[in-house]
Amino acid sequence: MEYINNELCLGPLKKPLLPLCANYMRPIYVYDLDFVAQRYQAMTKALPGTRVFYAMKANPNVEVLQKLKHLGAGADVVSLGEIKRALESGFSPQDIVYSGVGKTRHEISEALTLGIYQINVESLPELERIGAMARSLGKRASVALRLNPDIDIKTHPYIATGLKDNKFGMELSLIPDLVKCLQTYSDSLELVGISLHLGSQMLEFSGYQEALKRLKTVYVDLQKKFDTLTRFDFGGGLGIFYDRLDVELEESLLKDYANITLETLGDLQCELQTEPGRWLVGHCGTLIAQVQYVKKTSAKTFVIVDAGMNHLIRPSLYEAEHLIFPLKKTMEVMKADIVGPICESSDFFAKERTLGKVQEGDFVAIMDSGAYGYSMASLYNLQELPLEICL
Ligand code: LLP
Repeated sequence: MEYINNELCLGPLKKPLLPLCANYMRPIYVYDLDFVAQRYQAMTKALPGTRVFYAMKANPNVEVLQKLKHLGAGADVVSLGEIKRALESGFSPQDIVYSGVGKTRHEISEALTLGIYQINVESLPELERIGAMARSLGKRASVALRLNPDIDIKTHPYIATGLKDNKFGMELSLIPDLVKCLQTYSDSLELVGISLHLGSQMLEFSGYQEALKRLKTVYVDLQKKFDTLTRFDFGGGLGIFYDRLDVELEESLLKDYANITLETLGDLQCELQTEPGRWLVGHCGTLIAQVQYVKKTSAKTFVIVDAGMNHLIRPSLYEAEHLIFPLKKTMEVMKADIVGPICESSDFFAKERTLGKVQEGDFVAIMDSGAYGYSMASLYNLQELPLEICL
């Protein structure tokens, strides 16, 4: 974040935001595609030889997808909707890894017909379903087993996925049953990989390293039975800082993460895969909103803006704290709760926050909302969805 001539700018090329508000109608997500490219390149440089499947749930904007496709990424999807969006944006079925715990028969049938590169399977009944469906369609499904090593990565409980009480992945004790199922359906299932995703917003890697070690043993054992097993998907989840923009620090964290990964898995001589979402796009987007009222009560001051939890739910859902800056630099500061128009007390962006002093009509940027912003937006209170602009 930087002000140039007192105007807030976005990304490494310092693109000004205020001109975008000339004909302002409603909240706008702004994405800087050059910033996306910078992040992607940093990641591929740190993880040479690893195939990056962008977790498009973070931000399925078509231009963002096209940019990442152009840079060489594949897509990690979790629904037929995401498959369709990925195809519309230029990805081919062979660029797509399909994860998710609840794949329906219809979704599986479409994935099989399209010839999706890899289906990451999350339960035994799902593996059986895919085996039976592929058999009746005369297809051979390329499957990876998503394993759950029961490891804590110390993140918010709502975004941890690698613990045994999470619904994700399969316990290691299930492997004999999975092997049996793969053998039963050897005509219609081809085991191509194992996969792992421990959760999101991971900033510390000891649990991750432990998980890799456990799954490496599993991989080696399974390979003795299945010589088609050639891929190791080590998931996404690398975190970013929301309280500052420090690209260097994040790139050094990325290096630690990459070193751990490559040191542990490098000698497997397999196709390494990763599924990052937030790290690629989180900082690259911001949500612009307009101040409607500055409301003072005996308890506090509320800055009421036209964006709400319906546009960016992260603060309400995870108590996430996003930086907020006025688009025009101000000398004075104020302390306020920044809230939206939605009829819920959980509709807040920040509490007791010191920010540049704003008044009715001013614009603010809710920073680092390029990931899980628009993609989690809703029509609650029948507020319109925000606009999106790519720079
Ligand atoms: N792979 C799988 C199987 C996933 O479930 C996810 C995210 C990712 C990859 C990408 O994770 P990332 O690199 O973006 O951390 N709405 C929450 C985050 C939910 C993450 C869901 N799964 C938030 O706003 O913090």
